[in-house]
Amino acid sequence: MEEKNITVLAIESSCDETAAAVVENGRTVCSNIIASQIDIHKIYGGVVPEIASRKHIEKINQVIEEALSQADKTLDDMDAICVTYGPGLVGALLVGVGAAKAISFATDKPLIGVHHIEGHISANFIANPQLEPPFLCLVASGGHSHLVIVRDYGEYAVLGRTRDDAAGEAFDKVARAIGLGYPGGPKIDRLAKEGNADAIDFPRASIEDSPYDFSFSGLKSAVLNYINGCKMKGESYSEADIAASFQKAVVDVLVEHTILAAKDYGMDKIAIAGGVACNSCLRDGMKKACEANGYQFYMPTPILCTDNAAMIGAAGYYEYQKGVRHGLDLNAVPALRLGE
Ligand code: KG4
Ligand code: ZN
Repeated sequence: MEEKNITVLAIESSCDETAAAVVENGRTVCSNIIASQIDIHKIYGGVVPEIASRKHIEKINQVIEEALSQADKTLDDMDAICVTYGPGLVGALLVGVGAAKAISFATDKPLIGVHHIEGHISANFIANPQLEPPFLCLVASGGHSHLVIVRDYGEYAVLGRTRDDAAGEAFDKVARAIGLGYPGGPKIDRLAKEGNADAIDFPRASIEDSPYDFSFSGLKSAVLNYINGCKMKGESYSEADIAASFQKAVVDVLVEHTILAAKDYGMDKIAIAGGVACNSCLRDGMKKACEANGYQFYMPTPILCTDNAAMIGAAGYYEYQKGVRHGLDLNAVPALRLGE
């Protein structure tokens, strides 16, 4: 007997992208609409939560309609409504959660709340149809830096996380210090190509007794101290060398900790996810390290690394298959932890 296709509408509004997507069977993207707010937030040098919420309200219906029409589907064709309910900015999350609940109520379709990080990890299922758990995933974004074992669909063991700044946050703060503006990651990535990654020896932090945890705030301070030191001595400095050396320091730590965890836990498949997974140096560095150690390497295309709703549809599909259903009392949970 032929199995029925499961089609979901997915909604994501946890930070500064209003996004909706239609996804089939967790792996096929029928549409993936993203309305980015970057142009407004960059005026302020970072995401302003109140503005983010208001912009989500303005865009959410339009983005959902576009996702359905681009997929050539109607709400009737949907088997479930999936939505990010945490972690993220509470006012921003509430817009997506409210829209999903309204659609679920009006259409009598199941509602599935999805963890944002689970979404990032699941972007790998879209990009790599043959990928199956178990595998190790490095999630590095503006808000999170996690090393996670994906034991099975929807089953996670968090091995390590950042003790202070997330990797993307460090990129954004260093970019601001060298005058590149928000969001800093892509700008540092570009500028670093013109610089020497060995020019400045920035610190690579490791935490005693927690080999899989990360810490990036010391590195950020080292960059700021380096710039201030040069200014005080009246010396000129190369922004491109700073970008390249900083980026290398972040990537070295991300790759080293991931490979160590893979060895310790006997994992032979490694994936990366989150906005920082767009970084060319990380993509290249992790690929080479995996090749050198005989591991399979997986990464989503850049558009599926940064916030989007297709990844929420992929994660939501597997939650649906496991029987997860949320009631209309689903709330936004800004500090939701993975596995809760
Ligand atoms: O996953 P994401 O879109 O949002 C969060 O869930 O946080 O990640 C955004 C983060 C930002 O900090 C941005 O600077 C960073 O990802 N990012 C990058 C690159 N592209 C985006 N960082 C380094 N290199 C990039 N090419
Ligand atoms: Zn994200």
